[in-house]
Amino acid sequence: MKILAIESSCDETAAAVIEDGVKILSNVVVSQIDIFAEYGGVIPEVAARSHLEAILPVIHKSLKEADLNWNSIDAIAVTHTPGLLGSLLVGTLTARTLAILHNKPLYAVHHLKSHIYATWLNNEIKPHFPLLALVISGGHTQILYMKEHNHFEIIGTTHDDAVGECFDKVAKILGLPYPGGPSIATEAKKGDENRYKLPHPKVNELDFSFSGLKTAVLRAIQKEVGVPISYPSHELAKLLSEKQRSDFAASFQKTAVDILLEKLNLAREKYPEVKSLVIAGGVSANQKLREEALKMLKNNSEGHPQLLRGRSEEPRKDGRDERPEEIFLTFPDPKFSGDNAAMVGAAAYFEIKSGVKPTDPYSLNIAPRSPIN
Ligand SMILES: Nc1ncnc2c1ncn2[C@@H]1O[C@H](COP(=O)(O)OP(=O)(O)OP(=O)(O)O)[C@@H](O)[C@H]1O
Ligand SMILES: [Mg+2]
Repeated sequence: MKILAIESSCDETAAAVIEDGVKILSNVVVSQIDIFAEYGGVIPEVAARSHLEAILPVIHKSLKEADLNWNSIDAIAVTHTPGLLGSLLVGTLTARTLAILHNKPLYAVHHLKSHIYATWLNNEIKPHFPLLALVISGGHTQILYMKEHNHFEIIGTTHDDAVGECFDKVAKILGLPYPGGPSIATEAKKGDENRYKLPHPKVNELDFSFSGLKTAVLRAIQKEVGVPISYPSHELAKLLSEKQRSDFAASFQKTAVDILLEKLNLAREKYPEVKSLVIAGGVSANQKLREEALKMLKNNSEGHPQLLRGRSEEPRKDGRDERPEEIFLTFPDPKFSGDNAAMVGAAAYFEIKSGVKPTDPYSLNIAPRSPIN
């Protein structure tokens, strides 16, 4: 089954053709990063206008790269939630029109499902069920339990900022370019991650909170450079030495990674039957996170860099031992961590396999926010 997939929920205009959920026949992504680097963040109206200009050429290119015409496409899939209102509208209106024109079934896909299903692409061995998925992106920080395909239970979520948003905001304070995640990762390589002690939030069980960490970095910088807490954050970067900047980047990254993995580890203890851990979403591209996650599981690579083995060390205190022998830790190929349409095609395929019916192209709506289900 060949699916033409469209993604436009934020600032990437993307189209891809995916065969049987995992085979990438084409994958085209036009990013608006260059436009928004100038502003230091996404401006929704500008994003929508850029999608409008790019979307048809991107779709045509994806068909051309796959060397296919509309006759060979079995279905269209599109992201309809969550995301920026104008951006989602451009993608869904285009997909609806194409579905009607070419008489193809249309599938509406939740963006976070797509981030999880990115892990099935370019991965020799796929995640096993039941699994835990840590989805970490610009707008979300959640742990989900999946007992099987297309079954999602949110078992932890952020109370405020997403971790990607926190990377972006801290980068801005440090005077590093947008998008903040990759900038901090690069800067952190030069820094001492133990120089500044930053707090872990006190939130229940498997939930997260990242707005306090951002403020903690701000206060620590103000203290370090000797200015009052009323000092404007956008003026701070120029007071930092190169060394202070990279030490702050490294200390922040270490703290964010520790917080994420602490919670994932707790989830693993609470759900001892899981066979795979999936870490997906834009922040999952972070190399330090990947390395630390592997260490956490005391993995041995056995030749496959993306799919490594872990074994729990201690038997459960209650004597029950229903742990699988191995826990597989999987990440998407880094080129599918951020927004792309290949992951939308993968998610749509597994929805279809799970019995989901096509949506009505005349009435499909968008939702800027809505939980995964
Ligand atoms: N190497 C990295 N380290 C840390 N963060 C990163 C890295 N690369 C990208 N990011 C962060 O990932 C985020 C973008 O991810 P993604 O594209 O999945 O988010 P989004 O689509 O905007 O939000 P959502 O998926 O929640 O709707 C940004 O916050 C960016 O800074
Ligand atoms: Mg995303």
